[in-house]
Amino acid sequence: MKFGHFDDQNREYVITNPRTPYPWINYLGCEEFFSIITNTAGGYSFYRDARLRRITRYRYNNVPVDDGGKYFYINENGNVWSPGWKPVKTELDRYECRHGMGYSRITGEVDQLEAEVLYLVPLGYRGEVQKVKLTNHSNRKRSFSLFSFVEWCLWDALDDNTNFQRNFSTGQVEIVGSTIYHKTEYRERRDHYAFYTVNESVTGLDTDRDAFLGLYNGFDAPGAVMECRSRNSHAHGWSPIASHHLRVELEPGEEKELVFVLGYVEVPVADKFTGKQEINKRPAEDMMALFRSNGDVDRAYNELAAFWDELLSVYQLEHPEEELNRAVNTWNQYQCMITFNFSRSASFFESGIGRGMGFRDSNQDLIGFVHQVPGRARDRIIDIASTQFEDGGAYHQYQPLTKKGNDAVGSNFNDDPLWLILSTDEYIRETGDWSILDEMVPFDNDDSNQATLFEHLKRSFYHVVENLGPHQLPLIGRADWNDCLNLNCFSEAPGEAFQTTENSEGGVAESVFIAGMFVLYGDAFVQICRKLGLESEAAEAAGHISVMKKVMNEHGWDGRWFVRAYDHFGKKVGSDECEEGKIFIESQGMCIMAGIGLEDGRARTALDSVKDRLDCEYGIVLNNPAFTSYIVKYGEISTYPEGYKENAGIFCHNNPWIMIAETLVGNGDAAWDYFRKICPPYLEAISDLHKTEPYVYSQMIAGKDAFTPGEAKNSWLTGTASWNFYAVTQFILGIRTDYDGLRINPVVPEAWDGYVVRRKFRGASYHIEVTNPDHVSCGVKELYLNGNRLDGNLVPICKEDSVNQVKVVLGN
Ligand code: GLC
Ligand code: GLC
Repeated sequence: MKFGHFDDQNREYVITNPRTPYPWINYLGCEEFFSIITNTAGGYSFYRDARLRRITRYRYNNVPVDDGGKYFYINENGNVWSPGWKPVKTELDRYECRHGMGYSRITGEVDQLEAEVLYLVPLGYRGEVQKVKLTNHSNRKRSFSLFSFVEWCLWDALDDNTNFQRNFSTGQVEIVGSTIYHKTEYRERRDHYAFYTVNESVTGLDTDRDAFLGLYNGFDAPGAVMECRSRNSHAHGWSPIASHHLRVELEPGEEKELVFVLGYVEVPVADKFTGKQEINKRPAEDMMALFRSNGDVDRAYNELAAFWDELLSVYQLEHPEEELNRAVNTWNQYQCMITFNFSRSASFFESGIGRGMGFRDSNQDLIGFVHQVPGRARDRIIDIASTQFEDGGAYHQYQPLTKKGNDAVGSNFNDDPLWLILSTDEYIRETGDWSILDEMVPFDNDDSNQATLFEHLKRSFYHVVENLGPHQLPLIGRADWNDCLNLNCFSEAPGEAFQTTENSEGGVAESVFIAGMFVLYGDAFVQICRKLGLESEAAEAAGHISVMKKVMNEHGWDGRWFVRAYDHFGKKVGSDECEEGKIFIESQGMCIMAGIGLEDGRARTALDSVKDRLDCEYGIVLNNPAFTSYIVKYGEISTYPEGYKENAGIFCHNNPWIMIAETLVGNGDAAWDYFRKICPPYLEAISDLHKTEPYVYSQMIAGKDAFTPGEAKNSWLTGTASWNFYAVTQFILGIRTDYDGLRINPVVPEAWDGYVVRRKFRGASYHIEVTNPDHVSCGVKELYLNGNRLDGNLVPICKEDSVNQVKVVLGN
């Protein structure tokens, strides 16, 4: 069952039934000011850090779901409704929510009165702008009231949710004309405040929640709205809010537009006050001046559209399947930018008060957006590398505001360092900017202790060499990619974090997955050394890699698939010898991506085992058989019921590793089949089962052992976005960035006739037309650049600003 449809022309998903199976959200903002908005106008805003600069309040896991947001109410002679259906939930004659690139437009209509609200965060602006358009489609005069509503958060979202003994006494506001200023804690150490305004004079206002709602009412029936009378309340403590009341009259056919602005302001300490305890409003007034008229909003909207046009123009596909086009051209790329901006902080499954930026997550996210914002990717790499330790190890997480490593979580996730090689390598492939390797980068954010980024990569590589276990495989530490396979943690106490509890001395558990990573990204390091002319460095590293390959042949292969790990007692994990968890997806994907088993058929055998044991209707599960009880020596993985999360859920992040592996063995049909199974636009028809948004990937889909296979959770902020984009664009469609050009190597279903990719690369444009007259899966038979035949499959870098025609003919 569907709840809307794609509007490809406008790059929107159009929701036409407000009762979606879960709130379907969108993100506003691309720089500093961000909002999350649901299809019924729920959600909240924050400045840079969702925990420490939360501007409006939100209650997660609320009852009913998604209560609280940027609400508007209409009261026409006692008939009360909201344009987004919620919170009032009056049946609308027409409802539509269009989630687009950085904006959402929500429209409701009752009795031929239409209210459309456009929500957006303009580029370069520290605020959210809401344009409300009211249209009288009837042939009689209408007169009604419009109420706005936001609830302030007292800045620190965690404290706001817990420290009521203090917070109920601290709230403060100021009111000037139609503007409500939220200034809690401004008198003391905060140099920031927020405001909510409208570009017209108001009939009334409210700033105290209980006065506006009535203590025992919900958002669905605020007393002020129901009685059509603002209380003109002034908040002192309790819960400050901001609500405007405007009286509107519309002649038949008339429309009226209003502009609301929710802004955030920082003031230099010396200029904080203009009178006794009176906040300096000048910066806010400057911000308001930018959005006085509807035209101002239209301009910001057009700028935003142009911004996204530009970002998305770097990789555009024309393919017969519209689902694939919309994934590749719009939504997957959009999601990659969202993961860049938000990491794992704030979604409808991440509360914004939890973890910081992940070292491994951020490096992997980068491979999905480096083509769009290479400059910002460069800064991100430097930020991440600056949290690395001298010995090559890394903090598992760092805080976005301070960019410092997070002590609470610490280090020793032994896959972390190697992901830095992946991100840097992909950055260089995209940009050709080798100078990044000469950049001086601190260790552990200590500016007195710096080395080149190249040196950081080298430390990443040797961190593995220096941390080998009894089989000479890499020590796993607290966990590798799989955060829940905690082989050195033996936790029996409820509430202990599996990732940070290490209560057995001398952990010797080893990871075959990290071994695969070491071969794959170690090889990238070797190639980089060669490019830099560092032959002996390259040779030494290559020596370590070939030793690792031998070790893997001896200890990493189980007969029909790759072993996953060795536990604390030296026993295999992910082996036929095990009772449960005989096979894991991660080592199959990573080892084959590293090229292991490609020559001797083991790769094919392992992929057949994946197909037999891990594949299901909705994707590839993480392990099989699922764990049916808690196994203390394995850690968190076996805490999840069968079929969920890391215990045999479809962890969409690592499915693309298998897709890539299938392309490496030349099986385009299998790669495509796996891609299609989890690619959101292909799941639109089962939205009722899938539950999360049909326009973005979710971290997890319940696997075949679950109670409801096919049901997804944790949408938006997941490495799934970047890995799937990487797999489909670079390995299936086969336009791979390489140091000296674009490497063309499509591996596609045999039935495909062809497609066109428009790729901007190093300042030039390439119009790449792939045809498949013999219906093969792979193999470039002929390649032409601007009419000239090329040998091999590398399209060299062309002159800046040139537009180039590339013809690719597949065949044997
Ligand atoms: C989550 C984490 C990621 C980890 C994955 C598997 O997505 O953010 O770092 O690799 O789970 O455990
Ligand atoms: C939990 C989650 C896992 C995530 C980890 C990160 O273990 O199940 O997916 O990666 O937390 O903290």
